[in-house]
Amino acid sequence: MAKLVKNNVTWVGKVDWELRRFHGDEYSTHKGSSYNSYLIKEEKNVLIDTVWQPYAKEFVANLEREIDLSKIDYVIANHAEIDHSGSLPELLSRIPKVPVYCTENGVKSLKGHYHKDWNFRTVKTGDSLDIGNGKKLVFVEMRMLHWPDSMATYMTGDNILFSNDAFGQHFASELLFNDLVDQDELFDECIKYYANILTPFSALVEKKIQEVLGFNLPIDIIATSHGIIWRDNPTQIVLKYLDWAKAYKENQITILYDTMWNGTRIMAEKIAEGIHQADKDVTIKLFNIAKTDKNDIITEVFKAKAILVGSPTIGKGISSGTAGILEEIEGLKFKGKKAAAFGCYGWSGEGVKKISNVLAKGGFELVDEGIRCLWNPDEASVAACVAYGRDFAAKV
Ligand code: FEO
Repeated sequence: MAKLVKNNVTWVGKVDWELRRFHGDEYSTHKGSSYNSYLIKEEKNVLIDTVWQPYAKEFVANLEREIDLSKIDYVIANHAEIDHSGSLPELLSRIPKVPVYCTENGVKSLKGHYHKDWNFRTVKTGDSLDIGNGKKLVFVEMRMLHWPDSMATYMTGDNILFSNDAFGQHFASELLFNDLVDQDELFDECIKYYANILTPFSALVEKKIQEVLGFNLPIDIIATSHGIIWRDNPTQIVLKYLDWAKAYKENQITILYDTMWNGTRIMAEKIAEGIHQADKDVTIKLFNIAKTDKNDIITEVFKAKAILVGSPTIGKGISSGTAGILEEIEGLKFKGKKAAAFGCYGWSGEGVKKISNVLAKGGFELVDEGIRCLWNPDEASVAACVAYGRDFAAKV
C-alpha cells in the first residue's frame, strides 16, 4: 500500500518483515527490512528505485494501482544492487522506452546484473532534471558509499534527499517515519548498518557529507532506501555518521573468544575480572564467537576502544569461528583501536601469534604479545589472567 511522504511524493516500496539474512548470508536482519521506492507525481512522474527481485511482480502490481505505468516519465536508479534494482526487469518489460537515470558506473552494474540495454541516461554530481511545478531533481554521486555506482537524488521545493543506502537501516516498520518508532531499536540498527557496511569507507563518508553540506541545500526529509524515513530532525543521523566516521569508540572493551573445553572461556572471564578491578567505569562485553551473530559482534567491535580475541590452538591454527570473524574484522579496517590475543593450548600453541598477526594486519595497535595458557588454567594461570586484565586496562 502506498503511503504519503510529502505533497506529491509517496512511498511505494515493500516492508519485508520476514527477512532474516541479507547479502546472501552475510548480514543478519533480526528486525526485517524494507526496500523503499518512491513515486513523485509532479508535471512529470518519476519513480525512484524499486524493490528486491522476489517482490517484483507484487511491486509492479501495486505501482499500477497508483499510476498508469505508461505515464511514468523517468526512472531513477540510485543504486544497482538487486535489493533496489531487482524489479527493473519486470517494470521495464512493461515500459521499455522509459529513460533510466543513473551514474556511469550504474550503467555498468545494471548491465552486469541484467544484461539489458535499457534507455540509460547517465548523470554526474550537479546534473539536474526538471520535473515541473518549479521543482527539480539534482543528482549527487556517492561513489563507494557504498558501491562505485551509488548516488543520491535531491528534490528541490520539497527538500527531500533520496539518499539510498546511506543513513538507512534494516528495520521493518509500518510507521514509515523516524519519530514514530522506538528510538533505541532504530539507532541500534543504524549503528549496526554503519559498522558492518560503511566502516571501510569512513574517510569517504566524512568527505561526502561535508561536500553535500557545502551545497547549503535545505533538507527537510532524508528518504533512505531501507528502513524508516528521517523527517524529524533529519540532520541527527548525518551528525551520527560524522561521529561514526571519525575512528569511533566508546569506553568499552570487547572480548571475543572461542573455546573447546572451556579453558579459553575461563581465560576470557578472568581477564575481564582483571580489567574491572583496574577500571570500574569501562564497559566490558564478552562474546562466545561460535554462539553469537557475527554482525552483532562486529557492532560491538566498532563500539570498543580495544578488543581481546581468544581461541584455543587447534592443530597449528585457531578455531574456524575465530578465523571467520577475524577475516571480517581485518577487512573492515577499523581505525584507532587497540587489541591483544589470548588462548589455551596443549602442545605447540601457535594460536595467539596467529590472531595477533591478523589483528595487526587489520590496523589494530597490539598492546603486547598476548597471553597463553598451557592446558586448562590452574590457580596460577587464573591469577596470571586477572593480572593480565589489570595490565591491559591500564594500557588502553
Ligand atoms: Fe541496499 Fe547496496 O543495497
